[in-house]
Amino acid sequence: SIVDPLLRTGYHFQPPKNWINVSSKKRISCIYNYIWCFVLIYFLSDETAAPMYYEGWYHFFYQYNPKGAVWDNIVWAHSVSRDLINWHALETAIEPSIPADKYGCWSGSATTMPDGTPVIMYTGVNRPGVKHQVQNVAYPKNASDPMLREWVKPDHNPVIVPERDINATEFRDPTTAWLAGDDGHWRLLVGSAAEGGARGVAYVYRSRDFKEWRRVKRPLHSAATGMWECPDFYPVSRDGHTMGLDTNRVCGKCRTKVKYVLKNSLDVRRYDYYTVGTYDQKDERYVPDDPAGDEHHLRYDYGNFYASKTFYDPAKQRRVLWGWANESDTRDHDVAKGWAGIQAIPRKVWLDFSGKQLLQWPIEEVEALRHQPVTLKDTVIKAGEHVEVTGLETEQADVEVTFELSSLDCAESLDPALAHDAERLCGARGADVEGGVGPFGLWVLASANREERTAVFFRVFKVAGSDKPVVLMCTDPTKSSLNPDMYRPTFAGFVDTHLSDGKISLRTLIDRSVVESFGDGGKTCILSRVYPSLAIDKNAHLYVFNNGEEDVKVSLLTAWQMKKPLMNGA
Ligand code: FRU
Repeated sequence: SIVDPLLRTGYHFQPPKNWINVSSKKRISCIYNYIWCFVLIYFLSDETAAPMYYEGWYHFFYQYNPKGAVWDNIVWAHSVSRDLINWHALETAIEPSIPADKYGCWSGSATTMPDGTPVIMYTGVNRPGVKHQVQNVAYPKNASDPMLREWVKPDHNPVIVPERDINATEFRDPTTAWLAGDDGHWRLLVGSAAEGGARGVAYVYRSRDFKEWRRVKRPLHSAATGMWECPDFYPVSRDGHTMGLDTNRVCGKCRTKVKYVLKNSLDVRRYDYYTVGTYDQKDERYVPDDPAGDEHHLRYDYGNFYASKTFYDPAKQRRVLWGWANESDTRDHDVAKGWAGIQAIPRKVWLDFSGKQLLQWPIEEVEALRHQPVTLKDTVIKAGEHVEVTGLETEQADVEVTFELSSLDCAESLDPALAHDAERLCGARGADVEGGVGPFGLWVLASANREERTAVFFRVFKVAGSDKPVVLMCTDPTKSSLNPDMYRPTFAGFVDTHLSDGKISLRTLIDRSVVESFGDGGKTCILSRVYPSLAIDKNAHLYVFNNGEEDVKVSLLTAWQMKKPLMNGA
């Protein structure tokens, strides 16, 4: 393999080998469309099935190919953890064994019943060739085993079959179910597509017993975005609490204090977008607060992050978001190296005080891996200069930095044509294009002479007639590797801030081939995969850089080396 095995991640979740989830359908479309082929080959694949907490253990079920590092033969692999960081692999939980899942056990979710036991709903492919999709249920064989090793599928499967008006090849990924009001009915969503694939749809199904399910006539929500995979729907507290809410425990009285989040994984774009809105449970409808929200204004992550899921963690009363990041390397390399796909670091997620967007932050447990802290204080990075952070190894590191800007006077004017397109803006004004205020930020996974480096940075623009700056956050991996074969897209999002105290923070989790960044306290997040050819292992360096005209002060930077947790026996 020309991919160095030392690029395998150290503390991001990975199975010991093989594929953690690409749909062959997408591969076929490649043959027909050359341009999409380029995009899809690199975004193909996928994902989180069902994270949950049971009897002191976190359980993670995921789409896995036991036979290789490409999407195929998908089963539900299963790992358990006490802290969401150290993982033990268990036997396969669910694999094709009944007519209702003979041709595939695809994604789904777990629901915790009022007595504390879990139930899994998942998509089964029940016909050869056409990928005809139905929804099945599975129960733990022995609820007194906290490991939940064995799962049984009752004879009455499938429990949901697509009605005539539904496209049965685009009908999958049931959500965690929830109770609403006191009508005794569970509800769940199934992701789908209508109007020949043009409209993403989340259908609501209701049941008293997880056996008989009936579809509510009108979908919970739909939008002209293309197919919705892996929907997720959950309450968040609107009064600034970082605490999570259990989907089932939202009492009638508290509803005014609650907002709802609907997330969909956009099959055609391969990213997860969400809206914040109101759930009218009588009508079984969800209405986004921002009427244009479905134009995917908000994404969990502006990088490589897909098919995510949240769950309510009763142990820490928080909502945890977990997403999957595929390789950006070629399929041939995946096969050669024998593994493909990782999970992001689980993120705590809550509603920002503004009520307009979510905030995300790596779960606190990851901090137990930190050691060898190095700090930099009140250090001015002059225009065009950079400073190396030394005294630790940085191929596996956690870096927190606060930048202080003395003035925004030199900020570049924003080209109105790019004002709404962070990705194009970053593509046009990458890390090496000098600016006014910024680009400033980190060079991570850099080689000794910096011929390889991945830039994570901010760039501040001013807009005529407004006192609110436009702050762009970018990951620019165009120089990340001397190896020419990799897919190296720049990723970017805007950060909603006035910069009123002149400060902005960045946290970046570096893990050999992962650069996972959180801007301004988790308002904007970007996960990127990079494959250096020099900046590997002990040869990886870390710098702070400033390519703007205005000096930037690092008020505080702390970098830690990260230990390797137990990772499924690998
Ligand atoms: C998401 C997805 C799901 C499906 C699974 C199959 O990437 O396509 O919609 O259930 O992967 O592995």
